[in-house]
Parts: sequence; structure tokens; C-alpha cells
Amino acid sequence: MNRPDEETGAGPAALDAATLQIHHPYEPPSGFAAVVPAVHKASTVLFRDAAALRARSWKARDSYSYGLLGTPTTYTLEQRIATLEGGLHCALTSSGLSAITLVNLAVLKAGDEVLLPDNVYGPSREQAHKLLAGFGIGHALYDPLQPQSLRAAMSSRSRLVWIEPPGSVTMEFPDIRALVETAHAAGALCALDNTWGAGVAFAPFEFGVDISMHALTKYPSGGGDVLMGAVVTRDPTLSERILHIHSVMGLGVAANDCETVLRSLPTMRLRYEAHDRAARDLAAWLATQPAVRRVLHPALPGAPGHDHWRRHCSAAAGLFSLQFDPRFGHAEVDRFVDALRLFGLGVSWGGPMSLAVPYDLTAMRGPSAAMQGPLVRLSIGLEAVEDLRADLAQALKIAFGC
Ligand SMILES: Cc1ncc(COP(=O)(O)O)c(C=O)c1O
Repeated sequence: MNRPDEETGAGPAALDAATLQIHHPYEPPSGFAAVVPAVHKASTVLFRDAAALRARSWKARDSYSYGLLGTPTTYTLEQRIATLEGGLHCALTSSGLSAITLVNLAVLKAGDEVLLPDNVYGPSREQAHKLLAGFGIGHALYDPLQPQSLRAAMSSRSRLVWIEPPGSVTMEFPDIRALVETAHAAGALCALDNTWGAGVAFAPFEFGVDISMHALTKYPSGGGDVLMGAVVTRDPTLSERILHIHSVMGLGVAANDCETVLRSLPTMRLRYEAHDRAARDLAAWLATQPAVRRVLHPALPGAPGHDHWRRHCSAAAGLFSLQFDPRFGHAEVDRFVDALRLFGLGVSWGGPMSLAVPYDLTAMRGPSAAMQGPLVRLSIGLEAVEDLRADLAQALKIAFGC
């Protein structure tokens, strides 16, 4: 677009060199094609004329109004994530947690109640306590392995049920269909945190969920260097409500971050399968180590919810947790984590580097929770599996003497 040229007919020579760096008449030839989509950066979106500017709408996905609300780059990534999830509509947000916030604020209003699994992603529980409660939105917890506990926890105020397969940190895999049916029977919408499944392990909408939320920070980014979230739906009315709240909350995403995710998506399934293979190999081996009491990996027979995982999933993410022999306390567990050389110490997952995080379940979940004491969560990266096994073996020896 070059309005001075169009309107006055003035050529480049009539304009100052500084002006020409902003209003240059050159247009590259059309017809360029490349493997990756072009990246469009914009806060301001330009309009042909005043009528087009006046007619702009935050709703329209076939036009543009403001960089915050959509560019060709964000629309392209939205469509790819919607396809990945088996949905139709997508809103991108600045992190997985802000995608959770978007769902909560789009669905719930004062007087409503949201149901969370008792093993839910920690900041989500904190959000219910600290943010939603202040807006007059209540919450209740349910046991994800007992659909009847969801039924018992629901009330006439319940509007939204979150499902997290498997639960953060303790990795219990729920019966998704039973939870969705229970939620719907009580008149509530169902949102599923699909960060672990990533659109590879299972298809969330086949279980009847209304909303799939995905922290693109993990496998879709795959680099440990981007924060982004997505909210995917199939229902146009629900999607419009979500996009409206998205627009009034100002939850835009940066073009460079979209570019990174768009570049990583074509390799995601291969990476996911490699993470899965290595994690299952190491999880099975760790289960044979004398210092390890229990390996919490949903694909391992005996893990909580393993039968549900087997019925629901064709794959598993590279994430699992370890509980140690009860004679070992936090000091030994910290020594184990500190002795690891290839595992970085840090939260998040889905990137190339293997990561370890020590947790205290008693402090996180309270003394009445089913699982107690120290636990280490491992995110298995893309290093050679034998190097990771050797690293884990030497750390077990240093920390536990076996
Ligand atoms: C299951 C799950 N959901 C959501 C999130 C939030 O994603 P983000 O880190 O992008 O806010 C995380 C982050 O670790 C997570 O593990």
C-alpha cells in the first residue's frame, strides 16, 4: 500500500528520503511460495479507506482490524492448532496459563462454580483461590479417578468442569468419557487441558469435550523458548464468546513466537514419539531400581489410571514421576536431583533438554491427599537414551547408595 502515490500521483522523487523509507512505492512481485508461511508483524493494521476502517470488527476472521486481534500469521497458526486438536475455532494466548484464564472468564460469571481435579496444574488451583474467588466464582475439587466424586462435588451453580489427563505431577489418567458425561448430565461445560496429549495421544473432541486448551509452550514449541497457549472449540457460539473475552482482555501473541511454533509443528509428532519411546524405556528401567518405590507413568501397568490410558490413548508424552523408598527423605531426593548432570533443574517440559523437578506432595496437596512425601518429576528430552540412563544410574548411586 502506498497512499501518497495512489492519491497524488507523485513519484518517489517528490518525497523526502526519510519519508520514502516509510512510504516506498516498491511492491515485490506476487506469486512467491515457500515451505513456511510468511510472518506478518503488526500492531497497526492499515485500511484502504475510512469506510473500511469504520466497518472493522473484532469478530471477522476473514479480515483484519488490529494486530492484537489477528494477522495472517496468527490466523494461520490458529487454523493449524484447531486442526491438530480436531476442533474448528482457536484463540491464541500468551501462555498456557492465560489460556486457562481465558476459558474461565469466558464461561464463568459471579455466582457460578468451576470443578477442578484435585491433581490439577498448581497455578490453575491458585487462580481459582486467588482470582476467581474475588469475582464471586466458587470452585470445588474432585477425585479424577472417581467420576462419582465429580457428581458429588457438583451443585446447581456448577458451570464448568476441567479435566486434566493425566494430572500434573502425580500423572493419574482419568476416564475422560465418564467425566464428560457426568459434567454434561449436570448441565456444565467441559474443558480439557490437552497439553500432555498435544493432539497426538488422543483426540479430545471424540470424548465430547466442549473446549480443548493446549499450552503450546510444551510440544508445539518444542524448544523450551516460547510461551503460548491455545483454546480450541467446535461450537461457533462458544467460540465467539471466547474470542470476545480474548479481545477485551488483550491476549495477543507475538509474530516471532508464532513463527517459532509454525516452524516446529511439522516435526512435533516425530518429536513426541521420540520423547515417548525414551520416557517409557527409562520409566520401565527405573521401576526396577531398588531406591525407587513407584514410577508414575500412565503407560506403565499398575500406574494410577493405566487402564484408562490404555483405552483412550495411542501414545504418551515424555513425562513421568518417581516416588522413592520411604526411608529416603527430601535431603536424599534433593541430592539425587543435584547429582544429575544431563537433566536441567527447571519446570516446564516438551523441549530438547531433559528436566527434573523435586516436589513435596504433602505441602502441595495437604496431608489428606492419597499421595504424600517427596516426588521427582522427569521430563525426558531428546538426548540419547543410554546417556540419560547412565546419568540417572550415577545419580541414584550418589544419592541413595544403590
Ligand atoms: C498441564 C499444564 N497445563 C498448563 C500449563 C501452563 O502452561 P504455560 O507454562 O505456558 O503457562 C502447564 C505448564 O507447565 C502444564 O503443565
